[in-house]
Amino acid sequence: MGFLDTFHVSWSSLTALGVVGLLSLLVWRRYFSAISDVPGPFAASFTRLWHMQRILKGDQNLELIRLHERHGHFVRMSYDEVSVSHPDAIKKTLLAPLRKGNWYKIHALPDYRFQSPMSTTDPKKKVEKSKYIAAAYTVSSILRSEEHIDRTFESFLHWLDIYAADKKPMDLNKFISYATFDVIGEIVFSKQFGFLEQGKDIGNAIGNSLALNAYVAVAGYFRWINIALLANPLVTWLSIMPMGHLFDLTKAVLTDREKNPNARYDAIQYWFKQNERHPDKLTIREIGTQALAAVGAGSDTVAGGIQSFIYHMIRHPDTWRRAQAEVEEAVKNGLCKDRVVSYADAQQLPFVQACVKEALRMFGPVPMGLPRIAPKGGLTIGDRTLPEGTIVSVNPWVIHYSKELWGEDADEFNPNRWLEGDIAAKEKYWIPFGAGYGSCPGQNVAKIELAKITSTLVKDYNIRQVDEKQEWKWKAYFTVVPHSWPVFIEKRT
Ligand code: HEM
Repeated sequence: MGFLDTFHVSWSSLTALGVVGLLSLLVWRRYFSAISDVPGPFAASFTRLWHMQRILKGDQNLELIRLHERHGHFVRMSYDEVSVSHPDAIKKTLLAPLRKGNWYKIHALPDYRFQSPMSTTDPKKKVEKSKYIAAAYTVSSILRSEEHIDRTFESFLHWLDIYAADKKPMDLNKFISYATFDVIGEIVFSKQFGFLEQGKDIGNAIGNSLALNAYVAVAGYFRWINIALLANPLVTWLSIMPMGHLFDLTKAVLTDREKNPNARYDAIQYWFKQNERHPDKLTIREIGTQALAAVGAGSDTVAGGIQSFIYHMIRHPDTWRRAQAEVEEAVKNGLCKDRVVSYADAQQLPFVQACVKEALRMFGPVPMGLPRIAPKGGLTIGDRTLPEGTIVSVNPWVIHYSKELWGEDADEFNPNRWLEGDIAAKEKYWIPFGAGYGSCPGQNVAKIELAKITSTLVKDYNIRQVDEKQEWKWKAYFTVVPHSWPVFIEKRT
């Protein structure tokens, strides 16, 4: 037998061995693993590919809701992950000090050297990291920038006025995104990105963030490939990331900010102060990462929330009118007089605020499950114990659409539920911002923006879809941002 024959035989044996090994692994995952009796799609029981295909299709949230309706509290969504909708799920996972799933590690931005609180999976380390960052987002810190938030929203309203005067259809979704990016610019760097000023998506930065969104959702499951191809120092140095537009823009604004001695007491200023006091705890590099995280996590999400409010309200005209009546009454009582309603006044509008909450329940801007790892000894939820190491995830959409938790009308937009007697018991299931140590640090920013802009829109505008029967479109990746529901704007006198 010659060398080639020997090579051929050993190559085929190796291939055969590989195939047998792989098949055995898949069979073991499907039939013999400790979670093999958890129901779910067949393919999901032995591979992550089912989940990834659903993410890329853009409807992972709806599919999981359907699966939970069919199978109950536990759904196997990958060979190593179980989605849980049990009433105790939030308490046992998000509110417990469990390790976060490895998926989060993708959030080291722009490459693996830049660990952020989001990418840190160990609860203690994550909390320690957040300690030097989170206070930039207290209500009082953000309200220091209220005047500048107002000015940004005024530029947004200026566009609405132009479209109202022209009586032309407006892609409101785009201008909402420009506004939320520019507001984050003001809060974090004391400077807008300039989207509203130019009335366009500069350098297609926002358009590209949709691709980044899909990429992050999927690549989190292939961390090493991501590091080899993209999230490494060489690519960062060359500045050639496909999703680099937003990063570049943020970097440019950050560099500008560092040179500006007259900048306000914004988030960066707070972080610089922390860096002065604890240089080993919050480095300048980490400040850059955090600025990127705020732009990445705090613009699309708020835009999704504002859109959800408007879309659902104008499709329920009685609700919109009731909100207008509430604001009119407030104006009569001397409130809501400013062009952009102040945060203090917006809080005096319980019905509008109920509508905001309901908008975030119906259309949570984060449609992915929030994965945690079952600890030593396993994790018992209800009558089931998931073994140590299982990824256990709670999906805000699954929880928000659960009829068991919210009642038979869970899938209907009904702001009244927030004003009813038993709401305190249900509120613990409202998790658009997550819950526990990993929950959104920017939620005050979001709540302030939402409170102000929704009250202002209700006060001063009538909005209707160009085609009232047309449903909006969206893709649920890491976040979910709708589009394609043009509207006519009318300014109220
Ligand atoms: C309606 C708007 C928003 C929603 C629905 C939202 C939701 C969320 C959710 C669900 C998480 C992940 C929780 C988890 O992993 O368990 C998160 C994380 C995060 N959000 Fe938000 N968010 C919003 C707005 C904002 C804003 C305005 C900012 C910044 C100013 C922000 C900054 C962040 C950051 C930095 C993280 C990662 C934090 C960490 O793990 O420490 N978010 N958000």
